[in-house]
Amino acid sequence: EKGGFRSFMDKEIDEQPQAVADTLLGRTDAAGALVLDELRIDEEALKRVSKIVLVACGTASYAGMVAKYAIEHWTRIPCEVELAHEFRYRDPVVDDRTLVVSISQSGETMDTLMAVKHARELGAMTIAICNTHGSTIPRESDAVLYTHAGPEIAVASTKAFLAQITAVYVLGLYLAQLRGGTYADEAQAVMKELHEVPAKIRTVLDAMGRVREIARFMADSPAVLFLGRHVGYPVAMEGALKLKELAYIHAEGFAAGELKHGPIALVEPGQPVFVVVPSPSTEHGLHGKVVSNIQEIRARGARTLVIAEEGDESVVPFADEIISVPTVPTLLAPLLTVVPLQVFACELASAKGLDVDQPRNLAKSVTVE
Ligand code: F6R
Repeated sequence: EKGGFRSFMDKEIDEQPQAVADTLLGRTDAAGALVLDELRIDEEALKRVSKIVLVACGTASYAGMVAKYAIEHWTRIPCEVELAHEFRYRDPVVDDRTLVVSISQSGETMDTLMAVKHARELGAMTIAICNTHGSTIPRESDAVLYTHAGPEIAVASTKAFLAQITAVYVLGLYLAQLRGGTYADEAQAVMKELHEVPAKIRTVLDAMGRVREIARFMADSPAVLFLGRHVGYPVAMEGALKLKELAYIHAEGFAAGELKHGPIALVEPGQPVFVVVPSPSTEHGLHGKVVSNIQEIRARGARTLVIAEEGDESVVPFADEIISVPTVPTLLAPLLTVVPLQVFACELASAKGLDVDQPRNLAKSVTVE
């Protein structure tokens, strides 16, 4: 049932274009407007929402972090992301105008379930983003928006992550449309761009030969760092988590802007650092700032592995390796830039002879607090 792949993880990484396409399917009408009747939720109450809190654990929480950038931009509704287990036990400010969005592949994660129950007790409206029909978290929520990634067998999450970002984006665009804000008109345009993403993920997957080679060379690395900024920051965190989980290598993800506030002290000659570079078209000159970061760490001897938009020549002088991804609007970039990091972790772990589907000490769903 691995369909010719060496592991479920390899198969699931390869299924990501479909996971995104299926999660978009049926969520727009013929005119391109978002239709989420499946939510069966009071639209007037949704229009009154004054704050959104995204709760999740692990990889799903990184989908939440990505979503914060997008949802605030599209809706102007203040949006927080919190690890479900932290949210639950700290007296959060939540009321009947708060929308709590949980994100969970399994729908059974106890930490996330407890956060949802707590939010409901406090009067919040709750929407579950979930990959598993009939699971507990959707049942305990006011509404559910399913991701359609299909069953995820490998313990570490890959295709569910891309489907989660897709679904939470659909929800954010729907809210923008519903509230008629600045981005109401743009929601359809973004949906069009999203529909082009699966083919671009395939382009990334088809070009992974060099990433696999690098991963095999790096099997003995004691530590790997990951830097990203804006939506590339949660991508860096996810890249580090995948490497820890699959290859048992010490890995850390940082916001690139934090570099000079501490982490740059870790950089010594030969230290591998992945850098997720924003598109040159990203607002506020973020691209240039990250290119400067690459220059800074390279000057201290780092081995720079740079993920950049195709045709971005500015990284060439400072990159030991360049991994190119197709052009997409900045907010959609995580759906492409995380893929090489998943492949890297999976390949490196396989090179070490590890079981990538069943990493040590981990369970597919964590049903205890
Ligand atoms: C990472 C991973 C975990 C899960 C987390 C939440 O590869 O699989 O971090 O993402 O345990 O699980 P769900 O999404 O089932 O709530």
